[in-house]
Amino acid sequence: MKALVYHGPGRKSWDEVPDPKILAPTDAIVRIESTTICGTDLHILKGDLPAVTEGRILGHEGVGVITEIGDAVTELSPGDRVIISCVSSCGKCDFCVAGLASHCRAEEGAPGIGWILGHLIDGTQAEYARIPFAETSLHRLPDGLSPETAVLLSDILPTGHEIGVKYGGVKAGDVVAVVGAGPVGLAAIMTSQLYGPSKVIAIDLDANRVELARGFGATHAVVSSAADWRDQVMALTDGLGVDVAIEAVGIPQTWDMVLDIVRPGGHVANVGVHGAPVAFPLDELWIQNLTITTGLVNANTARMLTKLVAERRIDPSGFVSHRFALADIESAYDTFGRAAETKALKVVLNA
Ligand SMILES: NC(=O)c1ccc[n+]([C@@H]2O[C@H](COP(=O)([O-])OP(=O)(O)OC[C@H]3O[C@@H](n4cnc5c(N)ncnc54)[C@H](O)[C@@H]3O)[C@@H](O)[C@H]2O)c1
Ligand SMILES: [Zn+2]
Ligand SMILES: [Zn+2]
Repeated sequence: MKALVYHGPGRKSWDEVPDPKILAPTDAIVRIESTTICGTDLHILKGDLPAVTEGRILGHEGVGVITEIGDAVTELSPGDRVIISCVSSCGKCDFCVAGLASHCRAEEGAPGIGWILGHLIDGTQAEYARIPFAETSLHRLPDGLSPETAVLLSDILPTGHEIGVKYGGVKAGDVVAVVGAGPVGLAAIMTSQLYGPSKVIAIDLDANRVELARGFGATHAVVSSAADWRDQVMALTDGLGVDVAIEAVGIPQTWDMVLDIVRPGGHVANVGVHGAPVAFPLDELWIQNLTITTGLVNANTARMLTKLVAERRIDPSGFVSHRFALADIESAYDTFGRAAETKALKVVLNA
């Protein structure tokens, strides 16, 4: 088969590689119909994730059709169309049972790390993929949902929802601010609607992205290069700050921004993957009664979100900005890598 293979920092190619095989009785093989590229794949290509070794097939998002199952798989069958979760969950270890599949302790990839696809084992940017723990890591696709819409349920919708909205404790009437209107921030904006916020403020340096955020449910757009960006946010609250501030960028500057706009008693939910330490001025903030959360997606709300998408209660089709044939994945990487210029959000590859 063909697959997108990582050859060390800055190098990747669409190579002929051996077809994946069933290695454990709980595995399934999926023929990929749609896959996509995540910001994390760009981090890997920059060399930011040394655990990804040369020869690794990248990708942790996908939708496809099961072609083969291991002997222990009874709930899924060849021919089933499925969404592949970005987090593989054995469903049995203490962390999986507690709803923390991001820390799954099964002996696949590395015990304690649930994100293994396209990271510690071969991933989904390929014609076929081996999916471990198929019954708990694949979700059957409801009728009427297209593979390219469903592929958004592998990673970005659960991430924005779980680590942004749920960890942030968004509730009816809240004023929510999301710093970073990339795919993950927009997913938080979209899924916050499920809880009835009174205002949702999209904040980004990119004026195009904050305007785009209105289509995903933002009620207000603030361009943070403006000197008075914070005053604009305060003017939208009662001057005390927002109830929930979600960080969806991953740099010290945006961490400082969320601390700067949260009200006493509010929640700060960090979603961004940070590459450098940030400051936390506890001497000033101890008195603010804040709740601070952070973490890796568990993807344990993917099945619930799938129902909502299937029932058109949320419509994530607007995330798909570009479409490519799977074999043209190198051009897709180029488009996604220049997102500010190409206005790419999610670049979908269809087989
Ligand atoms: N916690 C998790 O489980 C998890 C899962 C997936 C992704 N992530 C992380 O979420 C973050 C967002 O992902 P994404 O794919 O949407 O990224 P992205 O790079 O596409 O979007 C980031 C956005 O932040 C904006 N931005 C950059 N600097 C800014 C600044 N100083 N002020 C305001 N806005 C600024 C950019 O214009 C862009 O729109 C990344 O750090 C990613 O690694 C976390
Ligand atoms: Zn991802
Ligand atoms: Zn587990």
